[in-house]
Amino acid sequence: MNQQTPTLKVENLRTHFFTKMGVVKAVDDVSFTVGRGEVLGLVGESGSGKSVTGFSVLGLVDPPGRIVEGSIAFNGQELTSLPEKRWRDIRGSKIAMIFQDPMMTLNPVLRIDTQMIEAIRAHDSSISKEEGYQRCRDALGQVGIPSPEERLKSYPHQFSGGMRQRVAIAIALLNKPDLIIADEPTTALDVTIQAQILYEAQKLCRETGTALIWITHDLTVVAGLADRICVMYAGKLVEQGHIDDVLDAPLHPYTRGLIGSVPSRNKRGAALYQIPGMTPSLIKLPPGCAFRDRCERAQAKCREEPVITHPEPDRAVRCFFPHLGESL
Ligand SMILES: Nc1ncnc2c1ncn2[C@@H]1O[C@H](COP(=O)(O)OP(=O)(O)O)[C@@H](O)[C@H]1O
Ligand SMILES: [Mg+2]
Repeated sequence: MNQQTPTLKVENLRTHFFTKMGVVKAVDDVSFTVGRGEVLGLVGESGSGKSVTGFSVLGLVDPPGRIVEGSIAFNGQELTSLPEKRWRDIRGSKIAMIFQDPMMTLNPVLRIDTQMIEAIRAHDSSISKEEGYQRCRDALGQVGIPSPEERLKSYPHQFSGGMRQRVAIAIALLNKPDLIIADEPTTALDVTIQAQILYEAQKLCRETGTALIWITHDLTVVAGLADRICVMYAGKLVEQGHIDDVLDAPLHPYTRGLIGSVPSRNKRGAALYQIPGMTPSLIKLPPGCAFRDRCERAQAKCREEPVITHPEPDRAVRCFFPHLGESL
């Protein structure tokens, strides 16, 4: 494989749900790449299509939903045309998912060591129990769990929420996947703990070359830690770029609004800016920019469909009137 081949390259992905109420365009033209050891933050309000994007990459979209268009290349291999079984094999061994609720990963009635060793041996049955145990101990240590020896003998309910999520991350890392998709895994936790867990996950991915997609509705969580950021709105990718570029000079009015609602970026004592209005329903979205009713820059032109443009190298924006050359 070419050194330059990104771990994941998603192009023009569209995943729609064909419901009785109409077609829900949950993911509608989303493109991004993640390289080895890189962290991509996938950000947007609830209902913007972040989870469906993650499930699409994993091949876990069930009827009435399906991928209607686009390409998902994993280590250079196209996944969308693979038979279900091949996709499942890749999913099990090379791509791991971490969910919002760690109990989706953890079995409540088994000790942590039992489940971790099982996870390793399901992948490679030649590993001895002793060797497996050693790897479990190391993995818990790596995600910042103190006295791993003792903790291995515990059951999931004996851990705090944050510790439970760390265990789920340790399990995801056990078999050294090429890609981890973490879907709002820390949302239920304190913001400081969220940042700490992402920091540890990022460090491990840097060391192992694992690519990480961190999905969150909260921009602050990924602000200091992601390499790149994708902003989604109503199923569409509206902005993408290097995290510093996007935070310093966001191009899309929606991204500006998101950053404006982050306290640390505001002057102390100033009222927190909130984007007016609500996310539109994704059923029968009128043509044109879906953000226009909430956008202070909207003009008649915005009734037409904006396409992605690249006003600067390595940056993308979907807007007729982006904030060009305007720092925050
Ligand atoms: N199984 C489904 N059937 C119909 N619509 C769905 C289904 N799953 C998700 N959706 C719709 O897809 C849109 C995007 O959902 P989702 O990806 O979960 O958003 P996010 O993760 O950004 O909160 C939502 O409007 C949601 O209602
Ligand atoms: Mg979601």
